[in-house]
Parts: sequence; structure tokens; C-alpha cells
Amino acid sequence: MAEARQRLFLALWPPPELATRLHRVATQQFADQHARCLTAAQIHLTLFYLGPSDTEQRRCAEKVATTLETPPFTLALSRLGHWPRPRVGWIAPEESPLGLITLVSRLQPGLGECGFRIDSRPWQAHLTLVRKLRRPPLSEAIEQPLLWPVSEFVLVESRTRPTGVEYRILQRWPLNDQDLRENHRLC
Ligand code: 2AM
Repeated sequence: MAEARQRLFLALWPPPELATRLHRVATQQFADQHARCLTAAQIHLTLFYLGPSDTEQRRCAEKVATTLETPPFTLALSRLGHWPRPRVGWIAPEESPLGLITLVSRLQPGLGECGFRIDSRPWQAHLTLVRKLRRPPLSEAIEQPLLWPVSEFVLVESRTRPTGVEYRILQRWPLNDQDLRENHRLC
């Protein structure tokens, strides 16, 4: 019998208080009666979508994540937008900090070697807040950016339930400042 595959992705997961604030932004900034807000527990920033994976593929991805060294960083979430084709509304950082770009660009080659497909479209940092959206957000940005000090990334399983999509965090890896220590060594 074929081994069951888990639908996996690597992500940044906001702490509960920030997730609640992001959910509030969604309800205030996207006005469309047909749209559906993600719950606070569903909101995240995808780093790399791995897709349906068997045990061997999962182990390979975990090895890549374990050997990675990138410094922590802070995201200032403020930009709002929507993509008409997937019909999602999102929030994004004002700018992607170097730490975030470094994290994604260091994950990609190793995951590519594991056999995961690297999306040909350029990666764009965003947290989906709303699905089935047909209208742009009410404003282009929120006035006070939501600050998110990011100190870890996670491996997540996505499961489709009759009640909607459910995400389960399987593993966590801390971001570490090995790079900074090396760059700023005093003696
Ligand atoms: P999204 O936030 O833009 O919807 C889990 O499905 C996560 O992986 C979602 O957050 C989704 O991004 C992202 N993702 C990226 N590529 C995907 C794909 N081909 N199929 C499903 N989800 C994908």
C-alpha cells in the first residue's frame, strides 16, 4: 500500500496576540460579503510550499532546515493588497528585511536538491488574510505597522477538514545570529 503523504510547508508563524491583531485588520480592511477571513490560528507567512511529501522527502527538508544558519529579524507589517487571480487579500512587510530574504534564499537550493519544485515566480513575502476576495482592500496600508520580531521558522502540515483548512505545526527551528557573531567578532 502506498505511504500516506503529508501536505507540508515551511512558514513563519505569528504569536497568538499578533495573529489576533492581524485577524482584526482583515475584518476592518477588506469589505466583501463573499470573502472569507482566515481565523487567527490560520494566519502565517509561507517561506516554501513543499506540497504532498513522503517520509523521505520530509526528512530531507528537515535536514536542510536544521543545518541552516540565519539571523533573526523584525518584520514591520503594513502594506495591504490583493491578487485577483487567487482572489486573496494580504498584508506584507513595508520592506523584506535582509534576514528574511537570506532565510528564503538559503532554503531554496537545499530543498531543490531534495527534489522539491522551486516556484518559477519570484517569491513575495505576504500573509494571506482573506480568501474568495473580489475587491481591493479599503486602504493601501495600515497607519501603525505591526512589528513582528521573528526568531524561528516552522514546518507545518496542512489538512483539509469539512470545517476548513487546519494547520498543525510539526517542528520549529530557531533563527540564530551565527552570521552576526562572525561578522562582528571583536578579537
Ligand atoms: P497563500 O498564503 O498565498 O495562500 C499552505 O497551503 C500555504 O502554502 C498557503 O499559505 C499558500 O500560500 C502556500 N502555497 C504556496 N504555493 C502553494 C500551492 N501550489 N498550493 C497550495 N498552497 C501553496
